[in-house]
Amino acid sequence: MSVWELANRQLRDLAVYEPGKPIEETARELGVDPSTIVKLASNENPLGPSPKALEAMRAALEHAHLYPDGSGFYLRKAIAAKLTVAPENVILGSGSNEVIEFLGHAFLNPGDDVITCQYAFIVYKLLATAFGVRTIETPSPDYQQNLGATLDAITSKTRLIFIPNPNNPTGTLIPQRAIDSFMSRVPDRIIVVFDEAYFEFLNDPPDTLRFIRDRRNVVVLRTFSKIHGLAGLRIGYAIAPPDLTEVLHKTRQAFNVNSIAQVGAIAALDDEAHLRETKRVVAEGRAYLQEQFCTMQIPFVPAAANFVMVNVGDGCAVFHKLLQRKIIVRPLKGYGLPEWVRISVGTMEENKKLIAAMGEVIWGR
Ligand SMILES: Cc1ncc(COP(=O)(O)O)c(C=O)c1O
Repeated sequence: MSVWELANRQLRDLAVYEPGKPIEETARELGVDPSTIVKLASNENPLGPSPKALEAMRAALEHAHLYPDGSGFYLRKAIAAKLTVAPENVILGSGSNEVIEFLGHAFLNPGDDVITCQYAFIVYKLLATAFGVRTIETPSPDYQQNLGATLDAITSKTRLIFIPNPNNPTGTLIPQRAIDSFMSRVPDRIIVVFDEAYFEFLNDPPDTLRFIRDRRNVVVLRTFSKIHGLAGLRIGYAIAPPDLTEVLHKTRQAFNVNSIAQVGAIAALDDEAHLRETKRVVAEGRAYLQEQFCTMQIPFVPAAANFVMVNVGDGCAVFHKLLQRKIIVRPLKGYGLPEWVRISVGTMEENKKLIAAMGEVIWGR
């Protein structure tokens, strides 16, 4: 008997999440030094972790024999103070991805629906499939999310609506007006999840915490993986009304976030200089890349976060050719976007290498 006959049925339909190709794996395959590889594939911080976080984490290693504070008391307090909410509004996850999983455990049963948009961050669909739930994807003409279509797609079985803002991989942003109009019409029996992994890169970010202060059934996801530069530590969080975080706490393991990550995140949150510099480097790099794509006549979707989605004709072919030149980008075939690749903004040196390599690969120059 195959073990698949014993496993939960829905797992047969579940695709495995395909992360950005790791530097070490690429270096091994090409037989080169890992330090020569440029990775622009996972929207990480091009400047690395906050130096303050590194210092705090080195000191915290001395206590690695002790279990972490399962409630994340000090980090939740620090996040709450920064966002002017209460610590009861905050729940930590091993990456914001883990909080997405809490939402599945808390609210989904086989036969339910979740709604998101076409080309949305793929983890929502993977979650829904794992829980035996249907994903309704509303059309995104011009790669823009249409919240009117989201409202029209609501059924009696809809439990969760996922709104990534900005979305990954398209990089598009929904403005405040569209969010407010959507929130004035969405039924309160549905949990609305605003995934704001790239919030800190925005100049004029929409305010969704207002819905939480109004005690709406809203969850806002944020992460330390992006601007804070701690992707390897797996730490993120959600902000929600206290009764909603109370439900989510029931679904998590007692020690879901490790002690080193907690200490690093507290220091990173406070490192305004690192945040400012990262935002500056990313804004400059994004402008440079978009300018170069215009000059090279390579279509792209104007980006709000630290990555740009670019139409290169054959995404997989260009991914492989860039790989040969020691540059890792992200092909988007798995998103139903076979012509496109997603390119994270790197340091200016990395961006220039990428542009030179794209010139060779696409135009043969
Ligand atoms: C929209 C979006 N949400 C969530 C995440 C996951 O972040 P984390 O590392 O906190 O799990 C990502 C990472 O790429 C993302 O793009």
